[in-house]
Amino acid sequence: MDAAAASALPAFLVLVLFLGLCSSQNYVLDDKAGLGRVFDGVGGLSGGGATSRLLVNYDEPYRSQILDFLFKPNFGAALHILKVEIGGDAQTTDGTEPSHMHYDNDENFFRGYEWWLMKEAKKRNPNITLIGLPWAFPGWVGHGENWPYDFPDITAAYVVNWILGAKTYHDLDIQYVGIWNERPFDSKYIKLLRYTLDKSGLDKVLIIASDNLWEPITTYVWLDPELNRAIDVIGAHYPGTITVAEAMKTQKKLWSSEDYSTVNDEVGGGCWARILNQNYVNGLMTATISWNLVASYYDDLPFGRDGLMTAEEPWSGNYVVESPIWITAHTTQFTQPGWTYLQTVGHLAQGGSYVALTDGKGNLTVVIETMTHDHSVCIRPPLLPYNLTSQNATFQLKGSFASIKQLQVWRSQFNFKTKKPSFFEKQTPLKLSDGSFSLSLAEDEVYTLTTITTGQKGSYPDPPPSAPFPKVYKDDFYAPNPVFSEAPHFADQTGVFEYHINLTDPGPHVFTLRQVVMEMPVTWATDADQTVSVIGDFLWENLTVTCDVFMETVKSGGVFIAARVDKGGQSVRSARGVFFWVFADGTYKVTNDLAGQTVLAEGLSGTRAFGWHTLSLTVQGQFASGRLNGFPLWKNAVVLSPEHGWAAIGTHSFQLAQFDNFAVVAG
Ligand SMILES: *[C@@H]1O[C@H](CO)[C@@H](O)[C@H](O)[C@H]1NC(C)=O
Ligand SMILES: *[C@@H]1O[C@H](CO)[C@@H](O)[C@H](O)[C@H]1NC(C)=O
Ligand SMILES: *[C@@H]1O[C@H](CO)[C@@H](O)[C@H](O)[C@H]1NC(C)=O
Ligand SMILES: *[C@@H]1O[C@H](CO)[C@@H](O)[C@H](O)[C@H]1NC(C)=O
Ligand SMILES: *[C@@H]1O[C@H](CO)[C@@H](O)[C@H](O)[C@H]1NC(C)=O
Ligand SMILES: *[C@@H]1O[C@H](CO)[C@@H](O)[C@H](O)[C@H]1NC(C)=O
Repeated sequence: MDAAAASALPAFLVLVLFLGLCSSQNYVLDDKAGLGRVFDGVGGLSGGGATSRLLVNYDEPYRSQILDFLFKPNFGAALHILKVEIGGDAQTTDGTEPSHMHYDNDENFFRGYEWWLMKEAKKRNPNITLIGLPWAFPGWVGHGENWPYDFPDITAAYVVNWILGAKTYHDLDIQYVGIWNERPFDSKYIKLLRYTLDKSGLDKVLIIASDNLWEPITTYVWLDPELNRAIDVIGAHYPGTITVAEAMKTQKKLWSSEDYSTVNDEVGGGCWARILNQNYVNGLMTATISWNLVASYYDDLPFGRDGLMTAEEPWSGNYVVESPIWITAHTTQFTQPGWTYLQTVGHLAQGGSYVALTDGKGNLTVVIETMTHDHSVCIRPPLLPYNLTSQNATFQLKGSFASIKQLQVWRSQFNFKTKKPSFFEKQTPLKLSDGSFSLSLAEDEVYTLTTITTGQKGSYPDPPPSAPFPKVYKDDFYAPNPVFSEAPHFADQTGVFEYHINLTDPGPHVFTLRQVVMEMPVTWATDADQTVSVIGDFLWENLTVTCDVFMETVKSGGVFIAARVDKGGQSVRSARGVFFWVFADGTYKVTNDLAGQTVLAEGLSGTRAFGWHTLSLTVQGQFASGRLNGFPLWKNAVVLSPEHGWAAIGTHSFQLAQFDNFAVVAG
């Protein structure tokens, strides 16, 4: 995720800055003058990238419980929208996600976990809105250029193919598709994508552009009528609750199509509460999507815990339902996409904001937030930099709502400096006599007042306690009917490592793990020139990593196993650690970095392509040693840094190679 720059304070907000210090301020909620914009929902984003990687490896019942907290109506976050990455075989923040087309003659709609996740979401909420967006593309889409628009027909066909596959193989209707995450758009490509969708019978699939800033897409929409017709939603990232006047004037749906990106502690939940209300109050945005959905990637990868909840320990079963889940529930459990905002929304006199939505059939939901969380932890500071104080607020219901007699009340109190916070607690319903109600609002609170009676705070027994990654871990990649294409806990940081079955192998290597990306993708981040998949505990210092390896490239074949790998994500190119390489030309090397610049040892190994070799790497304190096929090959290489990191496997370049019988014994 990148961040957009916030712009100037809209003039109308300055007016509400100081409305006096009356003991109670009055607010009217009324539909007489007409309604505001149609609400499109609150969502979570899986991807950009590999943010749900570890979720799939949870055992039941914990995995289903996590999914319930995210998607089940009237339980937890009850999300309205699930947005996923269209995997492009490239590093996209916390790992790579596999493409449905690694090569131009390849097609497989069962790779990765996004299909599974969409189906699980749909199982719980059949009405959930599904969105797909590419971050990166396989190299062939760009014909070797790091650019997806030189052959727009190929790119459009590739994206449309993913949408068609979703329907054919998983019965999933993708409702919205984007262009290229946080990268330049191309008008010709967008029009061609529209044309290709229509031609493929996907005229109901709507286009979001451009998943970047409000400009320049808004200007292009104004200047180009054909582009205007092709685009349905203007989606901006991290808008800081504001939009530009020209975007509002297009009358298109305005979305914060990626937002939040904050550590999911109490303060993070406060940022989210303010975003959810004020994206509409200040910016007329009718959908907000959290990056990310669930923090299910190794904590030491970039942006650790920036999800609505945390599920990063499949080996223990531990997960944490964090405050953003309950803050989401304040809106999602009492509204649906298709409801409409009232025009009477706004800021509170002493800070905070309120929104009101209706289903048009007499139901009303009001969400009030009084967040003081203007610290640097929020990805965007609030617009109004004054100090929020406690305040009394009286709301007068008018129009269709004048005769409402009772409202359900749900409250969250952060109070993170003073006492224990409480989230999404049901209060005694409010009785209304003359269509009005008053609240005494403290700092850092969220209230929902609603005619909807179905809200529930879902719960499960506590999951198992948190535990480190097991010190002894083995995988023989025996997966005759794999549910997922990747092996548990391996987090690909460049390249894609998939289960592979070789029926012509006489054994014992019928079932292996294979690196399958053969050229540099059209990247989003800076992928390494090598491929690498990490696993284990970032704090591992002393350990032995063992793995059988099989090179499939004769001249320039090369593979490695590694320990103490200290970086992944967008920093993967500069990863350091202890890397033990063997090459198809009969040599070996030990390097202190993935790029292979700092050589600690090297020599002859007799290794070759199309034969299996067993590598073993031991790192203890400041010394490392290596074995080949059980015999010592090198020893006493001096390793001063890094002091700890993950174990890893990988290849010397984008080349096919296989791995088997992976094992770690950590001290
Ligand atoms: C809110 O109203 C109560 C009772 O009317 C009053 O005691 C209190 O001082 C008021 N608080 C504020 C912040 O005005
Ligand atoms: C899905 O939407 C329909 C129509 O709006 C509604 O009747 C139904 O209750 C919704 N289902 C769920 C599970 O929310
Ligand atoms: C509100 O919504 C419920 C369904 O959630 C519906 O039964 C009811 O008729 C609606 N209208 C009012 C005024 O409550
Ligand atoms: C807000 O509060 C802080 C700390 O309490 C204080 O330093 C600052 O002057 C206050 N700002 C305003 C505008 O009152
Ligand atoms: C499959 O196994 C056979 C026999 O060991 C080997 O010659 C061949 O290279 C392997 N092919 C792949 C793709 O793994
Ligand atoms: C790793 O080994 C070194 C040298 O044997 C030792 O000093 C260090 O405490 C060990 N680290 C851990 C975490 O056990």
